[in-house]
Amino acid sequence: MRNLGYVGYRPAVPVLLNSLERVTYRGYDSFGVALVDHNGIEMVKSLGTVEEHRKRAEHLQGSIGIDHTRWATVGGVSEANAHPHMDCTGDIAIVHNGDIDNFRHLKQRLQSEGHVFKSETDSEVIAHLIEAHGGRQSLVKATKKALKELEGPLAVAVLHRPSRQLVVARRESPLVIGLGEGETFVASDVPAILPYIHRVVYLEDGDIALASESGITVWNSGQEVTRSVHQVAWSADQISKAGYDHFMLKEIHEQPQAIHDTAAEGLPAAGQASATPMLPVEDPSAVLLLGCGTSYHAALLGEQVLSSMLGIPVSARVASELHEGAFQGPGSLAVAFSQSGETSDTITALRRAKDSGYRSLAITNVMGSSITRLADSTLYTRAGPEVAVASTKSFVSQVVALYLLALHLAPERAKAAGIRQQLRSLPSKVGQILANTEAIEAAARGLAPFQHMFIVAKGLGVPVAMEGALKFKEVAYLHTEGYPAGELKHGPFAMLDQNTPVIALVGNDQHRTRMLTAIKEIKARGPQVIAVADRDDAETAAFADVVIPIPRSDVFMAPVLQTVVLQLMSYYTARERGCPIDRPRNLAKSVTVP
Ligand code: G6P
Repeated sequence: MRNLGYVGYRPAVPVLLNSLERVTYRGYDSFGVALVDHNGIEMVKSLGTVEEHRKRAEHLQGSIGIDHTRWATVGGVSEANAHPHMDCTGDIAIVHNGDIDNFRHLKQRLQSEGHVFKSETDSEVIAHLIEAHGGRQSLVKATKKALKELEGPLAVAVLHRPSRQLVVARRESPLVIGLGEGETFVASDVPAILPYIHRVVYLEDGDIALASESGITVWNSGQEVTRSVHQVAWSADQISKAGYDHFMLKEIHEQPQAIHDTAAEGLPAAGQASATPMLPVEDPSAVLLLGCGTSYHAALLGEQVLSSMLGIPVSARVASELHEGAFQGPGSLAVAFSQSGETSDTITALRRAKDSGYRSLAITNVMGSSITRLADSTLYTRAGPEVAVASTKSFVSQVVALYLLALHLAPERAKAAGIRQQLRSLPSKVGQILANTEAIEAAARGLAPFQHMFIVAKGLGVPVAMEGALKFKEVAYLHTEGYPAGELKHGPFAMLDQNTPVIALVGNDQHRTRMLTAIKEIKARGPQVIAVADRDDAETAAFADVVIPIPRSDVFMAPVLQTVVLQLMSYYTARERGCPIDRPRNLAKSVTVP
């Protein structure tokens, strides 16, 4: 799932394993490392933890190597299936991130030519294919030929014993090269190698590069090409826990800063023009919002906000469920939300929108990520690196970016709604929630024993309820449904009893009376009701069993404040239940395969 490589002057194992450790939170089930030393290619593979892997691999010597953390797709979790994979001669070793769509056909062909496979993975065909194309003699040439035959997304690093060369290639899957002084790093994302580098090169689709101590040489479509070098804006400190027990809690607490920094992107000083990047289309006839997971919930919120302000069709779609009927055609704008900028389904959906004549905007947190190269323009969230698998500060920053978009597309309506001023006061309101979490922690302790829960809301609160429910599922393994309050009576009422607590999000909007009625109806069926409401909302306090107070806010900012409460509550519930909060089972931080 994650590739790493090193060529330079230091012993490679500590560099590779430190880097690998920094990305294991992103999805892993097995590990592997391979180094070239004077005896040939030495390889160690491990299941279990990265600490165990470190112990088993630390004796390896050499200053050129590759390693990998795997998240099984083709073939079960086993040492044989862990990367690296070798060719028949043991002179070529590869690590791979992606999918080889035509691997069965290639494997049969290579087997009929006498190649012996040791794993069930699709990735192993890469090593044998390079060997078949004469890789032992000329690695670069053979890798180029092999890539022409491989179908599907890939990022691959290839190690070659005879020449002590490291060759990398990418198509759709992420791959970044870190440039040091007398050393070069390869990684799937920047955080893995942050402590070692300040300069990076993002490879383009179809690039093949030879990495050496002095840098890289890149080819594309047979021609040598130059790729720009970028300074890295993030620092290594940003990927430490900074005294917090978990990255998730740290990142929740970073939200006032993330909101401020993201808003600063698009809120210039009074009297100046908007700093939001020029949109690829100024006056769209329709808007399609795309995303997966948490990012889809930002899109859902966007659907309500933008349709209320723009007066044109606005729809949000789960990127993996896009059907032809969703497209309106030329003149429309597609907006893709993606923290990582690497989610395969989101990238595919945006590409399809472009193919249907849409102009495209990416809202992402990662500079140079794949989606920024696909989209016509990009609006960056400034959340800083997000490490925990469960997304928190990215979501809140995406919501801020959404309001920046509203300010740009519907300046009069957004101004009348006071969006600009509300964004400016938002960090301090979030700060007030973070400074006083006792009530949230107490509520979380109460929720920890339950197996099922609902979060209900109306209007802008519905995507927040869905996002909150996702957090409880991801980190606390508590089955929670985010539901429109008015829909409960059409089915979920049958689930309600004293064993199913309900969280109700009560805002100061046109839905307030209906929400209070919903709370009464829920309570009549037995559940305990925890309301999230303004701190001076005595009426709600009279109906609910518990109230989590939030600072008074305007309609458009309440979703952010409610989100922060639900993030914290899911975090403390997970802690009470002893869950591995930053590394939830079966999940990955970014899903770069379809
Ligand atoms: C994975 C992560 C989620 C994230 C989703 C979309 O499933 O575990 O936290 O929301 O991918 O990721 P993106 O990077 O596109 O926002």
